[in-house]
Amino acid sequence: MANIIILGPPGSGKGTQAEVISERLGWPQISTGNILRHAIESGTKLGMKAKGFMDAGELVPDDVVDGIVAERLVHDDCKEGFILDGFPRDLEQAHALDGFSSIDIVFDIKVPDELIVDRLSQRRVCDCGETYHLTNKQPAKEGICDRCGQNLFHREDDKPQTIKHRLEVYHKKTEPLIEYYRKKGTLEDIDGARDISIVTDDVMESLSKLK
Ligand code: AP5
Repeated sequence: MANIIILGPPGSGKGTQAEVISERLGWPQISTGNILRHAIESGTKLGMKAKGFMDAGELVPDDVVDGIVAERLVHDDCKEGFILDGFPRDLEQAHALDGFSSIDIVFDIKVPDELIVDRLSQRRVCDCGETYHLTNKQPAKEGICDRCGQNLFHREDDKPQTIKHRLEVYHKKTEPLIEYYRKKGTLEDIDGARDISIVTDDVMESLSKLK
């Protein structure tokens, strides 16, 4: 059992790694980005509140996101462990999380900014949560999701100007979490600028060493 956080800049591979670990170990992947995108798609109040922030590459207000995660973590499927992908995003969220759950390990996936722009401009996603890359991870049939058969699309916030702003937000607000978790002794640095499967091997090896 392990409660895991995956940290890293936009496009570092948090979602990609969270999905693989979830499939291998059976712990749910909890992606705040996916939850918010579903809310937008479904036209809920939450979605309407989140859309402007997300399209602009800004963080959705902490009180909104903290509540979503606190509610999700009490579900039965989180009892044996969970993988947080995209949460916490700033120190306020990290403090909120400390109040409602313990964390065993935090993976910080490091990728230089130059690589991020390439990755995000080539990323294609599906409403079911599956992610592809036009050269590294292609669907069997162009433009169609292997998992559910729906059309793939390019995310609104994956446009070059918005990517740049998301990176600025990451450096200012999220990067301080690296030291926060290093001081707690739970941080594992992962070089994310390597093949997806090699990154996964590193993550799995660290998990195998957890007591
Ligand atoms: P969110 O959806 O969390 O986006 P993000 O953090 O910007 O991260 P991404 O999903 O863009 O990238 P990723 O690291 O998961 O990379 P991926 O695996 O897809 O958040 C979106 C927005 O929602 C935020 O801007 C904010 O507005 C809001 N939000 C979400 N959470 C919030 C919170 N807690 N608080 C406030 N607001 C919040 O990989 C990227 C691409 O690269 C893919 O194509 C993939 O196939 C490819 N790839 C992955 N790994 C590799 C590799 N090793 N080598 C080559 N290619 C790779």
